[in-house]
Amino acid sequence: MHVAIIMDGNGRWATNRGLCRSAGHIEGAKAVHAIVETAVRAGVQILTLYAFSAANWARPPAEIAALMHLFGQYLFTETRRCVKESIRINVIGRRDRLTESLLRSVEESERASALGSRMHLRIAIDYSSRHSIVQAAQRAGRDADFSVGHFHHLLQEADYGTCAAGAVDLLIRTGGEKRLSDFMLWECAYAELHFTDCLWPDFDAQHFQNALDDYAGRQRRFGTLTAHQG
Ligand code: FPP
Repeated sequence: MHVAIIMDGNGRWATNRGLCRSAGHIEGAKAVHAIVETAVRAGVQILTLYAFSAANWARPPAEIAALMHLFGQYLFTETRRCVKESIRINVIGRRDRLTESLLRSVEESERASALGSRMHLRIAIDYSSRHSIVQAAQRAGRDADFSVGHFHHLLQEADYGTCAAGAVDLLIRTGGEKRLSDFMLWECAYAELHFTDCLWPDFDAQHFQNALDDYAGRQRRFGTLTAHQG
């Protein structure tokens, strides 16, 4: 099962407490730690987390710097745990605008965890689904074999996905908004959508289980008349 999460609401979580937005992101990173653990225990095979969109570069430089620092710190502290738990880490999105040191951390985490087979953790940084689709389409333009399957493969390459991640089964968005915000547009073609008002730092194991239960109750038909249980 492939679960993708749009982690929204860090800023509001902090503002509600009179804290700066970066404090919300720090708390958000703690929620990432807990949800990765929960997802592994729940048997999720692929977990893709939307950490920083290409549009997020328009945020104040101090917030961007705090986020980039947090991503580096997360990779530094969590890689060892992921290796121990056989979790493979992969960062998807553009790499040409990351700092040299974050890029090194990304490559090191991917190298160290490459043999992980229990769960594939994908973190989307500087990610834009439309950008990936355009990249893949440019490559496909030179190709004779242009099928949905082949395009999916090209899209993984454009995303720096180091191994094939299939279509998204369940997309969760926290923070109350109900939109996709340029996240996995192709991969979510038949995803079941779960929206919750819960702000990301408050999203815990019980919220995650609620989303999985919601998914389990859905009938997936993929455009046919045959129902598949979620
Ligand atoms: C959106 O909430 C969240 C982000 C742009 C950053 C997501 C980052 C994290 C969850 C923390 C670290 C992640 C990792 C992978 C270590 P927002 O700031 O837009 O919140 P708002 O809508 O309340 O303003």
